[in-house]
Amino acid sequence: MRNWNCFSPRCIAFGEGKASETGAFAAQWGRGRALVVTGPYLLRSGTVEPVLRSLREAGLLGPIYSDIDSEPTDRHVDEALALFRHEGCGTIVACGGGGPIDVAKAVSLLHANGGHIRDYRGVGRVRKPGVPILAIPTTAGSGSEVSGTTIITDTAAHEKLLVISPYLMPEAAILDPELTFGMPPALTAATGVDALTHAIESCVSRKATELTIEFSLRAAGRLARFLPVAFAAPDHAEARGECLLGSLEAGIAFTNSSVGLVHGMARPLGAKFGVPHGVSNAVLLETVMGFSLPGAPERYARLARAMGADADGFSPEAARAGLRLVHDLVRELHIPKLRDLLSREAFEAQLPTMVREAIASGSPDNNPRLASPEEIAALYEAAFSFSEE
Ligand SMILES: [Fe+2]
Repeated sequence: MRNWNCFSPRCIAFGEGKASETGAFAAQWGRGRALVVTGPYLLRSGTVEPVLRSLREAGLLGPIYSDIDSEPTDRHVDEALALFRHEGCGTIVACGGGGPIDVAKAVSLLHANGGHIRDYRGVGRVRKPGVPILAIPTTAGSGSEVSGTTIITDTAAHEKLLVISPYLMPEAAILDPELTFGMPPALTAATGVDALTHAIESCVSRKATELTIEFSLRAAGRLARFLPVAFAAPDHAEARGECLLGSLEAGIAFTNSSVGLVHGMARPLGAKFGVPHGVSNAVLLETVMGFSLPGAPERYARLARAMGADADGFSPEAARAGLRLVHDLVRELHIPKLRDLLSREAFEAQLPTMVREAIASGSPDNNPRLASPEEIAALYEAAFSFSEE
């Protein structure tokens, strides 16, 4: 058994109706009026309303920044930071998918440390803690509410910047399954496969610990079982709750053990071609699992059983049962194929850069089987030409 550290928010609150307690959590864990960071659809649809009402009643509602309608960029961060400072806020309440929560983390970081987000890319380069963040996810996917990471697109370089620091951890995570009821099926699928990828990659990561493996396996089990239910029946309360809990468990697991090659390769697809993060993972997951499997057959076999596969023992054959299960799940969720999302010409033009950026992200170093640049290129190619048998 080896030594390990574990990081998490100081408070994790879970349950239907929890968003209505945001004001009380902000009074307990915040430092004054809150900038609310969210997305335009969430504001228009009223999803964020319980959060706003609760903050208003507590006298802590500040300005609302709701321009994040795509993957989060440095432009969003600059605008939200200017609003935070102009209005003299002391707390950030982020309500949304991974995007608004990632922007909130970058605002908190830059308010305390200055500079541009690219100055902090990589691991452990943030010097000072930022302002308190309360993170309230509206999707069951990113795990950003319990992670010390943020991913912001550098609009000048068309590159996704990954920043990892314990100072990015939200002070409180408030998980209310009711906020996820309105998610359309395609978003349920993409974000849910992102969470499942967190569960799988954290389980087989070289940095996995006894604690994180348990969280990973529980998350994989919940998501494999309930993701198809939430996809088919968006108002299924039990399925929504299980998916949100699975996403939380996977988030705690990966933030303390890292993701791997799938995430490393997925980020350039988002930055170069605007492929949503969950879809980027989904189109690579099966191919990369097949490559990685010989590096940790026992863990993959445990995952297969956790996801409900009929697999005995710890052999590569038992592990492959999980691969088939993932194959079927991705089909069932109607995830598009990579070749339907970008042209071969564009793919080939960006391939060398994507390989370089995948390696530079550092995530592939934690994969159970290490991949050379040539192997990463071959995996992109295999995922692109992947055809239904
Ligand atoms: Fe992810």
